[in-house]
Amino acid sequence: MKILITGGAGFIGCHVVREFLQQFPSAQIYNLDKLTYAGNLENLRDVEHHPNYHFIKGDICDEVFINELFEEVRFDAVIHLAAESHVDRSITDPLAFAKTNILGTMVLLNAFKNSWKDNSEGKRFYHISTDEVYGTLGETGLFTETTSYAPNSPYSASKASSDHFVRAYGETYGLPVVISNCSNNYGQHQFPEKLIPLFINNIIENKPLPVYGDGNYTRDWLYVVDHAKAIALIFKEGKNKETYNIGGFNEWKNIDLVKELCQQMDEKLGRPKGTSEKLITFVKDRPGHDLRYAIDASKINKELGWKPSVTFEEGLSITIDWYLNNKDWLRNVTSGEYQNYYASTYKFRT
Ligand code: NAD
Ligand code: DAU
Repeated sequence: MKILITGGAGFIGCHVVREFLQQFPSAQIYNLDKLTYAGNLENLRDVEHHPNYHFIKGDICDEVFINELFEEVRFDAVIHLAAESHVDRSITDPLAFAKTNILGTMVLLNAFKNSWKDNSEGKRFYHISTDEVYGTLGETGLFTETTSYAPNSPYSASKASSDHFVRAYGETYGLPVVISNCSNNYGQHQFPEKLIPLFINNIIENKPLPVYGDGNYTRDWLYVVDHAKAIALIFKEGKNKETYNIGGFNEWKNIDLVKELCQQMDEKLGRPKGTSEKLITFVKDRPGHDLRYAIDASKINKELGWKPSVTFEEGLSITIDWYLNNKDWLRNVTSGEYQNYYASTYKFRT
């Protein structure tokens, strides 16, 4: 079996590559990644010489290249993660998100359709999406698989659009497609533009912790390895044309999460209690900021028997330890272009 994983050099992708190499020992795993600022082959050093692992550098938007690749390799399955993934970047450069997330997904769907149109038996196109497509919740309620789409950021609008195309290819062309929509991931190898790794890095460097607005925004957090395991399970046992919500049963208001992080960091760094909390700085809010995300993950739990394996406190502790033990990784990804990104994103907020 030949499985193509797109975006495998990114945060979630590298854990999915590892999980698939382990769970599907007779499969050949192909990682296709453009290596944007978010893609990093350092994330896969431990498996780069694995006999079943193959890396291909390429752009999912490059139709000629993708069609040739699918003709040459004849993949049995695609696990599609490659995307522009950061909401703040989508606000400053929405077209880049439309291109990669919508057009790139369509290029892959077309290539898959062309290579398997006569016989898609046993094949699968699995699209990895986000809970942000559902928009925002108020103080109560949960996103289910039947919640209407109501995306509020260019990022979530582009992911919602790609979900619709995946569904449409399933209905119109009979492609064997499946989609999952997951909540906020955290863990090792996450690029420090997202809340948790950005704040870990700033605490290490004694820099301000920029909390958007009043900090009373809520997210449901899931340890990335648990997401990778859910993806492997859905790939194996999920039903075609179905959608599965994946979540951590783990809601935190941003400000409470940041305080928990500060406390754990103080202990691990041997700093007096309360040191990191003093770095908290409330800054101008994100435009169109969704108030609350919360996933009802009972379908994947009941139908496939999946549930998260670690508590948030455990997962956060593992995550912090990884960043503290991998300061070279952090230094490498925060040098150069990151400095410009940080200055331009946070200057206008203060
Ligand atoms: P990431 O930004 O860390 O990684 C994205 C990867 O895609 C990078 O390796 C990048 O080089 C690659 N890529 C980008 N454009 C490409 C292109 N044109 N061609 C080929 N490769 C390209 O993202 P992530 O956080 O790992 O998210 C992965 C997927 O999971 C995304 O589709 C995202 O929407 C979805 N998702 C993320 C989260 C989360 O909390 N991070 C939650 C739910 C769903
Ligand atoms: O819900 C799933 C989504 O989670 C994924 O689809 C996205 O790819 C992923 O980036 C994430 O989106 P969020 O916007 O929720 O994640 P982020 O880490 O950017 O922000 C989490 C919360 O923290 C959000 O309410 C904004 C806030 N925040 C973020 C940053 C970067 C801050 O207060 N300060 C910050 O500096």
